[in-house]
Amino acid sequence: MTIDGRTRTCGLIGNPVEHTLSPVIHNTLAERLGHNMVYVPFLVEEGRVSDAVKGAYALNLQGMNVTIPYKSEVIDSLKDIDTLAENIGAVNTLVRTEGGYKGYNTDMEGLYRAMDSEGIRIEGEDIILLGAGGAARAVAYLCASKGAGKVYLLNRTLQKARTVAEEVNRTTGAEVVIPMTLDEYTRLPERQFLAIQGTSVGLYPHVEDVVIEDRAFYQRIHTGFDLIYSPWETKFMRLVRENGGAAFNGLKMLLYQGIIAYELWNGVKVSEEDAMAVYEKMKAHFV
Ligand code: ATR
Repeated sequence: MTIDGRTRTCGLIGNPVEHTLSPVIHNTLAERLGHNMVYVPFLVEEGRVSDAVKGAYALNLQGMNVTIPYKSEVIDSLKDIDTLAENIGAVNTLVRTEGGYKGYNTDMEGLYRAMDSEGIRIEGEDIILLGAGGAARAVAYLCASKGAGKVYLLNRTLQKARTVAEEVNRTTGAEVVIPMTLDEYTRLPERQFLAIQGTSVGLYPHVEDVVIEDRAFYQRIHTGFDLIYSPWETKFMRLVRENGGAAFNGLKMLLYQGIIAYELWNGVKVSEEDAMAVYEKMKAHFV
């Protein structure tokens, strides 16, 4: 591509940013769709988020992604915030508007699209969700707002699961999230579940870690979705597969959160063909 006086810049702020795959997503899309845009990662030191957002706006950046650890902190620097992002309490995408940036959360819609592309439904499903941290909280919110049956929220610390369940049930007005401890899976109703792994357990290099080891747990899972994508197959996924279920990693969630951000910045709709071409490029980093 040629950078010239009309090139628009988008970027990523976070710390660290060295291993991000987001430039692969956005620069591949820009090239395929013929947009004069580049996407660059920016390392932002602790305490400098508001400076970074102001600077980005002053430099005429069209949009930004926000990653760990700034997804909540960045909210104070926004001109406006989308309702979904506000309810989740986390923003991963900034879109330039008159006078400042508007914040969105495309992670959750990204997860929804990723699951949809694998034929996984949330509507009417009874779901086991592992974890009650920032990521799992957002997933609980997504499930409750997309019409899940029940969401059994299993967490090591029961109090955290309770807090998330109360909050999500209150905001969505759907009394579907049920807090439990990890070993209470033995008390789940006798049926098969969709399970979403929303903790950081099993993330590279701790590839032999998993939140629940017991095979009896995995025998209750027809489909397992891990938000982690490094390693390519987590131990959670392996145990789901060994016990007869289908398992997916989080790379398509990363793909679609990026695609939705790209659509917001450029006012276009990305085709499935282009999405899959990007996915193949991302996959090449793993397998
Ligand atoms: P994130 O924002 O990525 O979700 P987080 O807010 O630190 O990260 O949440 C981490 C999640 O992983 C929590 O649900 C945590 O359980 P606790 O609430 O009990 O802390 C879970 N987690 C982390 N290490 C764990 C471990 N060794 N066993 C079980 N759960 C663990």
